[in-house]
Amino acid sequence: MDHFLYRDGALYAEDVPISEIAAAVGTPFYVYSTATLLRHFKLFDDALEGTDHLVCYAMKAASNQAILKTLAQAGAGMDVVSGGEYLRAKAAGVPGDKIVFSGVGKTADEIRTALTGGIRQFNVESEPEMEVINAVALELGVIAPITVRVNPDVDAKTHAKIATGKSENKFGIPIARASDVYARAGSLPGLEVIGIDVHIGSQLTELEPFELAYTKVAELTERLRAEGHNIRRLDLGGGLGIPYTRSNDAPPLPVEYGALIKKTLGHLGCEIEIEPGRLIAGNAGLMVSKVIYVKSGEDRDFLILDGAMNDLIRPAMYEAHHDIVAVQEPAPGVEQRPYDIVGPVCESGDTFAKQRNMPPLQAGDLIAFRSAGAYGAVMASEYNTRPLIPEVLVNGDQFAVIRERPSFDEIINRDTIPSWL
Ligand code: LLP
Repeated sequence: MDHFLYRDGALYAEDVPISEIAAAVGTPFYVYSTATLLRHFKLFDDALEGTDHLVCYAMKAASNQAILKTLAQAGAGMDVVSGGEYLRAKAAGVPGDKIVFSGVGKTADEIRTALTGGIRQFNVESEPEMEVINAVALELGVIAPITVRVNPDVDAKTHAKIATGKSENKFGIPIARASDVYARAGSLPGLEVIGIDVHIGSQLTELEPFELAYTKVAELTERLRAEGHNIRRLDLGGGLGIPYTRSNDAPPLPVEYGALIKKTLGHLGCEIEIEPGRLIAGNAGLMVSKVIYVKSGEDRDFLILDGAMNDLIRPAMYEAHHDIVAVQEPAPGVEQRPYDIVGPVCESGDTFAKQRNMPPLQAGDLIAFRSAGAYGAVMASEYNTRPLIPEVLVNGDQFAVIRERPSFDEIINRDTIPSWL
């Protein structure tokens, strides 16, 4: 459920008409709903009620300071994957002891930043990385709390580019090697082993892969404890999928996911951490764009938008589907017609949808991409010297621009000219 609904024939974000925001900031733009963000965070928090837990929002999904602050004030921790994300989380007021550091290749500098500023734990991805965390901790005279990310070799049954839990993927250490790696970790004086981490992929639409992975984590917990490690925290990653279409079978609910966690791991008495990103932000955001031209091709009509692949890359990159709706609600019974919906970038890949049924549209009409809150703005680029589009946050009947559209001068002046030119 989200808070983007039609009222009296017009699409609203909570209590604000989308057309009002468009008039104020211009198109294209991203708009997020505070109520939806908070509702989704609470679904996870409630799903783990009765268990010692922390929901660490995977801020790679949408990392605007205002979004982080909204979630942090509700009690969320953060899952970060770079020094930059760590600093963003701190800037939004998240205390170090609620920040988990994931990511496949943490550099010594990033590790230093986190150890200096305070960190809940590092999720170690490889043996060489573990050695570097130990060395940096010793250099700073502190002890680094760690879990090791294990790769359970489970098929997440999701798009190949976002599956991470098979042995062929670059993530984590093979679960079969866990005893050796934990023994080494236990011998390093700069590290304190506190738990186990696993994350098998994103946009999972079934519980079964989670169940397989978490069952392996439960077995590993008992084995590592028997080997003398004080395993007391389990980080279970993110990955629960969202409905991208209204017609589709809905993925499992957070409450069902929480019940699975309790069933597979509850008996171990560990503190549970989860790192959801998409389910918190995905359906809390729209990308709003304007039709620039309706062009009749040989055998099809194109809607050419002012938004493009550089603003929302998911369709080009993952063949992802986003529902696209007219901001002006179509009259009941109006006949829909198929359009190819494209952006103005000079690549055929700049296509959001092919032969998508839409109500008749004309130049100047506003449309909205649903489910664009996660992996939308954060993956945008300025390809074709198209400015990063603004982000807007709605809260009830108020809205605020939370990131401005840069001017062309700002973009051009980021470049510097060498002295010989
Ligand atoms: N934890 C770790 C270690 C991760 O790598 C990820 C996502 C998450 C948590 C959050 O997963 P989520 O709950 O959002 O599924 N750009 C792609 C998705 C990439 C996901 C990367 N890792 C997309 O647009 O579909």
